[in-house]
Amino acid sequence: MVQTLTVLGLESSCDDTAAAVVRQTKGAKAEILSSVVHGQTDLHSAFGGVVPEIAARAHAEKLDVCVVQALDAAGLSLRDMDAIAVTAGPGLIGGVMSGVMCAKGLSAATGLPLIGVNHLAGHALTPRLTDDIAFPYLMLLVSGGHCQYLIAHGPEQFTRLGGTIDDAPGEAFDKTARLLGLPQPGGPSVEVEARDGNAQRFRFPRPLLDRPGSDLSFSGLKTALMRMRDQIVAVKGGLTRQDRADLCAGFQQAIVDTLAEKTRRAIDLYLDHNPVDPVVAVAGGVAANSAIRTALESVCAQKGARFTAPPLALCTDNAAMIAYAGLERFRAGARDGLDLTARPRWPLDQHSPAMLGSGKKGAKA
Ligand code: KG4
Ligand code: ZN
Repeated sequence: MVQTLTVLGLESSCDDTAAAVVRQTKGAKAEILSSVVHGQTDLHSAFGGVVPEIAARAHAEKLDVCVVQALDAAGLSLRDMDAIAVTAGPGLIGGVMSGVMCAKGLSAATGLPLIGVNHLAGHALTPRLTDDIAFPYLMLLVSGGHCQYLIAHGPEQFTRLGGTIDDAPGEAFDKTARLLGLPQPGGPSVEVEARDGNAQRFRFPRPLLDRPGSDLSFSGLKTALMRMRDQIVAVKGGLTRQDRADLCAGFQQAIVDTLAEKTRRAIDLYLDHNPVDPVVAVAGGVAANSAIRTALESVCAQKGARFTAPPLALCTDNAAMIAYAGLERFRAGARDGLDLTARPRWPLDQHSPAMLGSGKKGAKA
């Protein structure tokens, strides 16, 4: 096996079309040579959510542009690549298929090996890409479509300790923004509003805290928010800026408190088996939220665990994480053929029972 590997990665599982080039010399930290992301927020904004058919079409139109831009930015050509990695699931199936077909075309034309990557593994391995974290570590994957606690043992070995039984937190942020007339994606809008709000004014539930373990539930929060919003509107005829800020602050605080407590429990479970130099990593779009990061940091400090979170641009969907996860698989000897299939569902921990509920990306993986 060559010591230095350079991999082109493609991502198209939701509403970001992305391509990136990542290089790693065995035993050294990986290097992101380029990372291009074309978001689709404008295309979906009129609909209040991601429209799968529009997303798939836009991915098909933009993927080759992203590939050219990523190669140019890296100063390399396809001839310099050792493999092509692509998100093969889970995600919105039309988008995943756009990426897989593009990667197959490139692989067939160049003879480069094709590596299918689990999008969730891309997020879950990001701490290795950014901070060279060794296995094992505890990962909180928290995004628009997913929320789960995983022990990462290896590039394809994960144990799920718990997860959401309904909505993902990002989905709850997005729905909250929609209910309050704030722009999408909802997470950043709600976070900005919450800065000027009083989190104590409205009492939001802290779901599933009365149940042992690390499973989570977020769908009740938006129902609570809708009820509070409707009460204010019934009394005053509308929402003031302060009402909106207070609702956002109360909602965000409920998510912060819930994630903090469930993380405390997940760390306890993790420490039972891995007590030496514990590392807790967070990834996924919601990890961009600074109130959540601060709370997780303080839980980790209390538990004596090192906390790591990728830079914001690598928390949300990107192709550098896919190129890196593909590079790890490739180094471990994995190869996929032109029969690689796009998968709407693809749980990281094949041994855990499926979680209930469904979200933006379909049934929870
Ligand atoms: O990981 P990601 O880019 O896509 C998925 O795989 O889902 O995550 C996108 C999600 C969206 O729901 C977005 O609202 C949320 O991450 N998000 C945030 C923040 N930035 C993005 N949620 C809370 N606070 C933020 N600052
Ligand atoms: Zn994602």
